[in-house]
Amino acid sequence: MANIILMGPPGAGKGTQAKRIVDAFKLPHISTGDMFREAISQGTPLGLQAKAIIERGDLVPDELTIGLVKERLSRDDCAEGFLLDGFPRTIPQAEALKVLGPEIGRAIDLVIDISVPDEELVRRIAGRRVCPKCGASYHITDMKPKKEGICDRCGAELIQRKDDNAESLKVRLDNYYKQTAPLIDFYEKEGLYHHFDGMVGADNLFKEIQTLLEASK
Ligand code: AP5
Repeated sequence: MANIILMGPPGAGKGTQAKRIVDAFKLPHISTGDMFREAISQGTPLGLQAKAIIERGDLVPDELTIGLVKERLSRDDCAEGFLLDGFPRTIPQAEALKVLGPEIGRAIDLVIDISVPDEELVRRIAGRRVCPKCGASYHITDMKPKKEGICDRCGAELIQRKDDNAESLKVRLDNYYKQTAPLIDFYEKEGLYHHFDGMVGADNLFKEIQTLLEASK
């Protein structure tokens, strides 16, 4: 299977599609956001450094994030492919991955970018509820769990993320346009870039992504 990057602004549906992709294609899901949240909940040194940065919507420094991904990608379960969700997010991260990937036999094969207009991102983030246990994502009106406030997948109580508030979202969107959007040009030049419209509904979007991934097998 392929070595894949999933990118897009906050709330575009990366986590939602990631869950479907890794289930269908049996890939390890490497979400830097999830890794940081796990470190925060366990109170590790990394978590202590990342907590305030993430809650206000800023990006964790490149050197910390690159080190984390380097260690994770080197593990054996990534030998037959992986899905990177939320990394890289800056040009220095992409440059580091461009060197690191081939060095450890993990060169990137394709980049999936999901785009969604800002007003819709704001609406999705405001209504998002997440499972703190398995990471599944829901929406209070659009993607309701079967039982209100309870995760369909694992039965845990759903919560609202601390960075899912209007103030932090403004910072996250600002950071996205300044630091992450330039990766579109970066990966277009590398010939790896595939754009998807995130407004077609989660099921239709997954079908489109699945078609690309089946063709790349
Ligand atoms: P991260 O966890 O990666 O957050 P994010 O990029 O802000 O993305 P989100 O998780 O908010 O949204 P999503 O695109 O996954 O959308 P979702 O599927 O949930 O990162 C968090 C923080 O960690 C960063 O801000 C940063 O501080 C730090 N960090 C992480 N990586 C880093 C890096 N590489 N460098 C530095 N710092 C880093 O969907 C959103 C909502 O919409 C849900 O309610 C969902 O149900 C709904 N929805 C999903 N798809 C659809 C659809 N197609 N139609 C309608 N509704 C939909």
